[in-house]
Amino acid sequence: MVKKQKDLKSMDESVKYHSPTYARRYMTEPIPKFELPEQSVPGPVAYRLIHDELELDGRPSQNLATFCTTWMEPEVDQLIQQGLHYNLADEDEYPHVIRIQERCVNILANLFHAPVDVDGGAVGTATIGSSEAIMLAGLAMKWNWRKRRRAGGLPEDKPNLVMGANVQVCWKKFARYFDVEGKYIPLEPGRYVVTPQQVADAVDENTIGVCAVLGSTFTGEFEPVKAINDILQEVNERNGWDVPVHVDGASGGFVAPFLYPDNEWDFRVPLVRSVNVSGHKYGLCYPGIGWVVWRKKSVLPEELVFHVNYLGGDMETFNLNFSRPASGVLGQYYNFLRLGREGYTNVVKALKHNSDFIREQLMATGQFEILSDDHSLPLVAWAVRQDDPYTAFDLSHKLREKGWIVPAYTMPENAESVTCLRVVIREGMSREVAEDLVDDIIRATAELNESAPKQKAGHVPEKANRLIC
Ligand SMILES: Cc1ncc(COP(=O)(O)O)c(C=O)c1O
Repeated sequence: MVKKQKDLKSMDESVKYHSPTYARRYMTEPIPKFELPEQSVPGPVAYRLIHDELELDGRPSQNLATFCTTWMEPEVDQLIQQGLHYNLADEDEYPHVIRIQERCVNILANLFHAPVDVDGGAVGTATIGSSEAIMLAGLAMKWNWRKRRRAGGLPEDKPNLVMGANVQVCWKKFARYFDVEGKYIPLEPGRYVVTPQQVADAVDENTIGVCAVLGSTFTGEFEPVKAINDILQEVNERNGWDVPVHVDGASGGFVAPFLYPDNEWDFRVPLVRSVNVSGHKYGLCYPGIGWVVWRKKSVLPEELVFHVNYLGGDMETFNLNFSRPASGVLGQYYNFLRLGREGYTNVVKALKHNSDFIREQLMATGQFEILSDDHSLPLVAWAVRQDDPYTAFDLSHKLREKGWIVPAYTMPENAESVTCLRVVIREGMSREVAEDLVDDIIRATAELNESAPKQKAGHVPEKANRLIC
């Protein structure tokens, strides 16, 4: 987030300096918070100050709002530590790190059924999460569209991208940062993903691509990639266009292959040209790793790939960042080796059992309008009904009293009258924890039904709709 500079002149002295707890034992002088300290301090002072402040934050393991991994095996800590010393941008110096990255891309390309015999097979890269992956995939779509327009002598000043209003904010960033019109297909109460017909109606000659989300951030639902492909193929054929599909598999890319192997959403589907996936969500790695894979080399425009030689040798680079630690890639490769298909399947099946349990228990009360279906991400999203005497935000606050972090949010444009809550099931949740959670949700709801006055319709507290991803 963009942070503002503080005015130190008007600031109270007590706020300017760290107020230490255990670090006080080692400190001799006050240490400023907003200015570079004039003097050095011993390592234990700096360590304790930062460590003790972090202790005040929520416990990541109790965070039911996030998709991000909060626990990895201890062995991987050593690799992550080791990876901090390796710059992923430096192919010449660290060829083995680069080979490991390449193996990860291969593993994903195979997992996503990329045909190896077409144009040399798939290509891809590690990224800092799905957001960077989506910027790169979006740029490739824009460049390919422009090339086609230019070749046909057609105007190339109005590119657009078709997607549901349920896309994660990174797609809105892509559209704005890279000057592409975002054509957001509206949702409506009761429907929170796009329909193939809506996609077909929205595309035109200026459409650089269609984004289909495999695992909506809002409800966990999968968009119908195969059906979108089928209708889009007809539209393309009829008009002589070549509108491709990008699958945003930020979460679903590591869920569908193991839970729903028959769902054809990946490179088995002809128009799917690229896929992104977050290693740090169901890829079970700590934050900071994502991936983008293109079906074949020819759909990644050469102009976007830079060659540099100032680190020695000729290096290709297609990333928004240059230098970054190799830790994420090493952590991901560790998980691939350690878990294999069997391990990933066991993990996501266990998550699904818990999400099914929570969903069924909440449904059985007849009090909740469940939005996530039983073929979606392992999460439970439910809407607070119009006639409930409490809001989703009331319930979220009430659950905080028991330590649960359950976000309340409004649905995107056109369905914003619907407010929901979402519980993301991650590996740290045992059946006992799931049972406690259900009990607490039911108890909190009963208490609110008794006591809470409904807030004014349409009132959304500050900070609402901040879905943590
Ligand atoms: C569907 C979807 N796409 C993209 C993103 C952005 O992912 P990242 O946090 O890996 O950048 C998220 C985050 O939750 C998401 O749910």
